[in-house]
Amino acid sequence: MEIIKIKGRKKLTGTIEIGGAKNSAVSLIPAAVLSDEATIFNVPDISDIKALHEITEYLGASFERDGDKVIVKSEGLECKPITLEHSKKLRASYYFMGALLGKFKHAEMYFPGGCSIGARPIDLHLSGFEKLGATVSLDGDKYIIDADKLVGADIDLRFASVGATINILLAAVYAEGKTIIRNAAMEPEVGNVIDFLNSMGAKVTGKDTSVIEIEGVQSLSGGLTTVIPDRIEAGTYILAGVMNGEDLKIDHVVPEHIKSLTDILEKMGADLKIYDDYIVVNKVPSLKPVNVVTEPYPGFPTDLQQPITSLLTQADGESLVTENIYENRFQNVQYLVQMGANIEFDGDDDRTIRVKGSTPLIADEVVTTDLRAGAALILAGLCAEGETTIKEIKHVLRGYTKIITKLRQVGAEIYLEDV
Ligand code: EPZ
Repeated sequence: MEIIKIKGRKKLTGTIEIGGAKNSAVSLIPAAVLSDEATIFNVPDISDIKALHEITEYLGASFERDGDKVIVKSEGLECKPITLEHSKKLRASYYFMGALLGKFKHAEMYFPGGCSIGARPIDLHLSGFEKLGATVSLDGDKYIIDADKLVGADIDLRFASVGATINILLAAVYAEGKTIIRNAAMEPEVGNVIDFLNSMGAKVTGKDTSVIEIEGVQSLSGGLTTVIPDRIEAGTYILAGVMNGEDLKIDHVVPEHIKSLTDILEKMGADLKIYDDYIVVNKVPSLKPVNVVTEPYPGFPTDLQQPITSLLTQADGESLVTENIYENRFQNVQYLVQMGANIEFDGDDDRTIRVKGSTPLIADEVVTTDLRAGAALILAGLCAEGETTIKEIKHVLRGYTKIITKLRQVGAEIYLEDV
């Protein structure tokens, strides 16, 4: 079993290169099968991508990787049921529902995998498919989605779901007529998919807005895109810089994509220098507490809620953190408390925690429960006195490309150990 060990309080200085966004890449690869041959640049090298590689080839398409370039050729694509094993490998397996439904008017798969941070239902995906004319049934635990034809529809999402927005997009590109998605997610990852689909010949408008319109087409061909920089990876390393940075440069960043984070950090008194495509961070002697409330984009991203909580333990005063997107995204808190943090739930509101700082963190043996909890524990370990051991790190390695290497290159004493 692999564990991570970190000797904390080392100065972080130098440059960290941000890679392609995990949450973009995992939707672009299923989207690629809608065309005959499509190319995607800047694909991160993480296990989630390997899982999608397997599924794509299982379906009969070819998946050629050359460095960060991926070419998907779909002439051999078959409408096969996505197996239970494949479905469970990651949350994003469910994008093959929309892609296969769009291409073949039929899709079969099981409930997707993903981090245990909530129930994470897919009702908005399925109701979107039904509004396009599909029938959704269950055969045991397997979803069967079928349509004689798909007809454009006016779909109003109860919640601005990223996954549902993208999945409905994938199913609608071949539908007859116009589809409108209202209260659509506006995360940059959705825009990346829209650009990709349009590069294949799709007709999608409304990028970066909450109303997306899709004019169905008869065929798609080609397709070329570049995965946008990972705003969550960038935010994670910016937080590391606020805790321990000395001229720490976070390179290949789209500042607009993480404005909600940098605004909050500036309110705390952090020293950030923001340039066109990179940010330089320096630790400051003291940080002010703040209130963090997670919301759909452009609000504060839920994926940085657990990482920023580690920083808030070092702020001088009491901060509040409210998690509005997932019902079980505080599993990192018990381990931060074990390391010396002072964190309590806010009365009977189980969506809010009170973080009372600043408290010195002491190294300990902790466990990763989900991807961003793992990132939070790494940040805590980087700032703790002593050597922290982190177990169950598979969660982290699946979502952060070369995280150990990137941190070591800027001075962190962090390494993997096989035990
Ligand atoms: C994507 O998940 C990301 N994952 C998540 O990142 C991210 O936290 C989330 O978007 C929000 O930004 C990927 O892109 C692979 P949602 P997704 O649909 O699509 C409820 C990470 O750490 N909901 O916006 O699953 C759901 O229960 C991961 O990288 C329904 O009720 O997010 C949840 O409370 C974690 N019904 C909320 O919406 C539905 O049909 C957010 O879900 C769909 C969602």
